[in-house]
Amino acid sequence: MKKILLIEDERSMRLGLAHSLKSQGYSVKAVADGAEGIHLIGTESFDVVVTDLKLPGANGIEVLKAVKSASFDAGVMIITAFADVKTAVEAMKEGAYDYIAKPFDPDELLIVIERFFKQRELEHENIRLREEIRECKHFEQIIGASPGMQLVFDKIRAVAKTDSDVIIYGESGTGKELVANAIYNLSARRDKPFVKINCAAIPEALLESELFGHEKGAFTGAVQRRKGKFEVAQGGTIFLDEVGDLPIPLQAKLLRVIENRSFERLGGNESITIDVRIVYATSKSLKKEEETGKFRRDLYYRLNVLPIQVPPLRERREDISLLIRHFLGSIGSNQGKPDISIAPDALEALLQYDYPGNVRELKHAVEMAVTFCPGKVITLPCLPAEMRVQMPDLEHIQKDSCGESSVIERVKAYERDLIARVLEETGGRKKETAKKLGVSRGTLWRKLKEHGFTLPESDTDE
Ligand SMILES: Nc1ncnc2c1ncn2[C@@H]1O[C@H](COP(=O)(O)OP(=O)(O)OP(=O)(O)O)[C@@H](O)[C@H]1O
Ligand SMILES: [Mg+2]
Repeated sequence: MKKILLIEDERSMRLGLAHSLKSQGYSVKAVADGAEGIHLIGTESFDVVVTDLKLPGANGIEVLKAVKSASFDAGVMIITAFADVKTAVEAMKEGAYDYIAKPFDPDELLIVIERFFKQRELEHENIRLREEIRECKHFEQIIGASPGMQLVFDKIRAVAKTDSDVIIYGESGTGKELVANAIYNLSARRDKPFVKINCAAIPEALLESELFGHEKGAFTGAVQRRKGKFEVAQGGTIFLDEVGDLPIPLQAKLLRVIENRSFERLGGNESITIDVRIVYATSKSLKKEEETGKFRRDLYYRLNVLPIQVPPLRERREDISLLIRHFLGSIGSNQGKPDISIAPDALEALLQYDYPGNVRELKHAVEMAVTFCPGKVITLPCLPAEMRVQMPDLEHIQKDSCGESSVIERVKAYERDLIARVLEETGGRKKETAKKLGVSRGTLWRKLKEHGFTLPESDTDE
């Protein structure tokens, strides 16, 4: 029940108002003395305090101040004689919710109180919504407020409810493994095994046995029977990372596993049936791999049923500042520097950078900076060289430019300067230069021509 404190020295008024408030279902405490009211405010909490301005003991303004310094968010309504309206307005500036001038109908006061409760409810709703939004920026350890990442979160939620196989696409360092973890954590198989295997990290000769196991004597060195990852994952989930790197012969075997949910160990003929959910990831475009004959078409279509595309960081720049804050916090406290902060120019440089290595590159940069920066503030020199690029002084450009063309000239000059610097760093290697600049080699080639760089055709690392 909502609690109202009424402070009014005029007896008939006090009794009348208390009665009408009670009849509306409020719990009412009514006192005649200002000091007594202040005492109550210090010991109990109220949703609304209705107080007269002129009171024995203490006046309405003092009551108001007492409410404001108590920790609850009560609304204060001031009752005032007509001659006191000026003081009442002052009281509103001090934080009173409203005032009401005598004489008035008790219903008028009820309306003001109801309006207050409605407004407070809206404010609470707003706070709740804001908190909810903040929560959405975190999803199972994955940070991202951008529409692109929100879409990824929606897809994770949707596929986690199913038992189907999923494929996660995304450039290196975009967080594919985090997405796989989230799918597993939210799925019905969360209490069953979760086995990870990176197809690109295991030599081709060993990969088949790693995945499917082998019988004793299957090959030289196979001194005993060994279970493969698929068998270890029985009942649970397997994460096949970099599936685009699976050699063609194993692609055929994988296709059979997907279709029949069974396989034989290397050197064996016993058929092993498995109940495993497969989550795939790849930083390659399987479509391109398929088109160039490096990936089986039938397998490609099999895998591509439930795709999740994690966008590169440069396509969701609004996430960069969130990630910086997140990594500063977590890495800072890990390294015993919980109050580490970042200087404006260093932050600006991080916000401007293109991140060809995506979130991993950002995380490593913050890690390095936190580790090597002396003091509590990360400054520009603490950042990796490629991120230290200074943007042209835009303010300066706006001040003394006399037209659009001069801005374009300056941007061009800046671009030329930047390319020259990176070329110097990479010793003229175009592939590396393009990567550092975060552009395709085609774009770099065009820019080199545009800016009249003369590079020997054969000096590249192609
Ligand atoms: N959205 C994110 N929020 C928080 N940390 C992230 C996010 N994305 C990536 N990371 C962190 O960046 C690093 C790289 O992420 P992850 O290993 O999942 O990328 P990946 O896409 O699997 O890369 P690769 O293709 O190179 O294997 C990890 O340390 C991970 O914790
Ligand atoms: Mg990975």
